[in-house]
Amino acid sequence: MKARSQTLDRRAETLRTAYAECRAHTLSLFEDIDDALFRTQPDPGFSPIGWHLGHIALTEGLWLLRDSAGLTLPRPDYEDYFHVERLAKHLRGGVPDKDAVLAYGEAMRAAVFRRLEQAPLGDPIELRRWHFVLQHEAMHDETITFLRTLLGARPEAPGWPPSSRPPGEAMVAVPEGWVAMGSADPAAMDNERARHEVAVPAFCLDVYPVTQADFAEFMVDGGYETRRLWSDAGWAWLAAGGIARSPLHWREGCTDHPVSGVSLHEAEAYARWAGKRLPTEAEWERAAAASLARDDGAPYPWGRAAPAAGRANFGNGVHGTTSVTAQPEGRSAAGCLDMLGNVWEWTATEFHPYPGFEPWPYHGYSAAWFDGRHRVLKGGSWASPRWLLRRSFRNFYEHGVRQILCGFRCAADA
Ligand code: AVJ
Ligand code: FE
Repeated sequence: MKARSQTLDRRAETLRTAYAECRAHTLSLFEDIDDALFRTQPDPGFSPIGWHLGHIALTEGLWLLRDSAGLTLPRPDYEDYFHVERLAKHLRGGVPDKDAVLAYGEAMRAAVFRRLEQAPLGDPIELRRWHFVLQHEAMHDETITFLRTLLGARPEAPGWPPSSRPPGEAMVAVPEGWVAMGSADPAAMDNERARHEVAVPAFCLDVYPVTQADFAEFMVDGGYETRRLWSDAGWAWLAAGGIARSPLHWREGCTDHPVSGVSLHEAEAYARWAGKRLPTEAEWERAAAASLARDDGAPYPWGRAAPAAGRANFGNGVHGTTSVTAQPEGRSAAGCLDMLGNVWEWTATEFHPYPGFEPWPYHGYSAAWFDGRHRVLKGGSWASPRWLLRRSFRNFYEHGVRQILCGFRCAADA
């Protein structure tokens, strides 16, 4: 057997550490979950969290063992449970029990780590595969986290004392200029490619995400009852019933936390009420850049240093939102704060392919959702593991979804 170069060994070691860290986090989300909760569908739109765990395991086997190396997966019969195209969502309560799925995950991971010893990480496509699978688990971790909330299994978040309310009116003026969108990093998803420059006219953007105190004014002012604030689609969504007239993840007393658990429709109605609008994805990215003069593609608003407390609230560090003012070192060049972490932010941009887009590793990851019904969300949430935290990352959901950990901030023309 040919020994690998030191560079490749280091690469493998970094991946192994990240995979182990991510998995420890995944498993922590199941510690207090019994078999019944494991297999309960928390919401008609989402699968039981037990399905997500098995799907994480199958997915790493499919891409890192079968697709890349032609290896046979442990428990090939489980593909019928956990492949995204097999069981319909409402049947996924029929997955195997928690112990069986945990054992499945362990067996798959052992095989994956054996493969890592031999994986040709000098091949750019192989390297992308390993980064994709890590982020796939991270994304499902975030989903499991908000599904736990819907199941009532949320760990007690610390009671953050309401601090002084940030100035609700504060916006920054961003001058006309260029932004480098997307990324060519090995970790970039297919929808982030290719990196390209976009000209952005001057605009204004809120310094902070819209807070609960801000949104409470909209509610008290009859925002949910005022037809002219809503788009036709938004009003129909509201009229369809079953929607509480306040954000889904509302936290009593947390006035200076960002709103969390609103659909695109609620974000748009609020923006119209405030005399503003949602930012385009390009505006959001320019406001989140670490440099306005020459955007060098630094991945974070504060530059290249790794995400940490004080810069962003992410990775389930505190199991909930924090004050929008709690991350003073997260400031972008434009002067915006709390751009990464805390809550995903809805934008005015439909999910679409960048120039040069190529579906990878499968059509169903991004390309299937370029359907005019999915909006781009930016920035990551308090539950996003660090591997999802970057300016270029593009999340996407249907307009009426409010179960996710999402809020928004408003823009205005210059
Ligand atoms: C990009 C977060 C919307 O969770 O549905 C996971 C990511 N795709 N497995 C999702 C995804 C396939 C996706 N989001
Ligand atoms: Fe998936």
